[in-house]
Amino acid sequence: MPAFKTLDDFDLSGKRVLVRADLNVPVADGKVTDATRIERLVPTIREIIKVDGKAIILSHFGRPKGKVDPEFSLELVVPAVADETGHPVGFIATDWIDVTKARQAIDEAPPGSILVLENTRFHPGEEDNDPALAARMAELGDIFVNDAFSAAHRAHASTEAIAHLLPSAAGRAMEAELKALEAGLGNPERPVIAIVGGAKVSTKLDLLGNLIKKVDGLVIGGAMANTFLHAGGLGVGKSLAEKDLAETANDIRDKAEAAHCAIILPIDATVAWHFEANAPHRFYGVDSMDPEGMILDVGPGSIERIKGAIDEAKTIVWNGPLGAFELQPFDHGTVEIAQYVAARTKAGKVVSVAGGGDTVSALAHAGVKDQFTYVSTAGGAFLEWMEGKPLPGVEALKR
Ligand code: 3PG
Ligand code: MG
Repeated sequence: MPAFKTLDDFDLSGKRVLVRADLNVPVADGKVTDATRIERLVPTIREIIKVDGKAIILSHFGRPKGKVDPEFSLELVVPAVADETGHPVGFIATDWIDVTKARQAIDEAPPGSILVLENTRFHPGEEDNDPALAARMAELGDIFVNDAFSAAHRAHASTEAIAHLLPSAAGRAMEAELKALEAGLGNPERPVIAIVGGAKVSTKLDLLGNLIKKVDGLVIGGAMANTFLHAGGLGVGKSLAEKDLAETANDIRDKAEAAHCAIILPIDATVAWHFEANAPHRFYGVDSMDPEGMILDVGPGSIERIKGAIDEAKTIVWNGPLGAFELQPFDHGTVEIAQYVAARTKAGKVVSVAGGGDTVSALAHAGVKDQFTYVSTAGGAFLEWMEGKPLPGVEALKR
């Protein structure tokens, strides 16, 4: 028996189904600029309305800090939900203090309606995981479906407390995400390698600590790698590096060795003298770095080395770019490795799972966002999952 109930466990016909979505999507000039999170919600919504259930969407939007603030009204996102579902969508305003009117509006809506409730963070009880607020939310539905993995690291009234008050299930997007994550680190086919990049070791200590226990190889790139190179006694010139973390970096390497996890660091680097697009650059071995230079990407030898590791892997988990991918040509290492993982995935050689804000942008930039086995739209939740931390929104769904 799977750990969670899914939509398969319920008869949704005629039911009021409260769907916790993550409608926390980027908006500019009043328009949604990336609807990926809404797209992924569609299968769950369709299943509900197909059998004349009412899909009642609960979500936060931005960080209004417990106050009603029109700038963060979810009404803004309603047209995008209508576009993605191809169905009219109603909006229900509420201050979350008194839900009588919201309840009436839901009762009066015809079977098969899609309704979006106002931002759950308009009430301070949301972030406090307040059981009284959760009870008011629960009044509005017969079944609770959580389809917001990307908000599951928050123990909030609409993600955690409510799941204890109504019969609860994982929605289709949540189900797919949990399945992919299980294949990535929970119970992966081995060897499994993790590729971790980004700027700072300090923000990824828990992540590295967990990964070395779980994976067979850990590829480190981005400015994070400079911290390790420096700790290993190599010059990194003017590169971004957390030199005060040398001891921590060496400790991670020792622990990795004890856990039989190979740490794969760059052997060469793409070096420039200015942090800007198309800055003149040269390749240096990491043992002969120019003291005036800045490492902005992995070098060609490192790329080959990482490809070699990928060739041996059956599972790849990726978080964080390998270089300054927002500046050409320093996106080269990230793009080349992303395309290589995509090709291995397509050839059926690896299961590839990636996530985290920058990572998704980097894969999109490389043109392979849809060519990994699974790409998570979650930022913080994906990171906490990679850190091995229990996610309250997921835990609350367990049977
Ligand atoms: C996200 O966008 O990462 C999630 O929606 C969570 O939002 P939060 O970081 O404001 O809790
Ligand atoms: Mg966040």
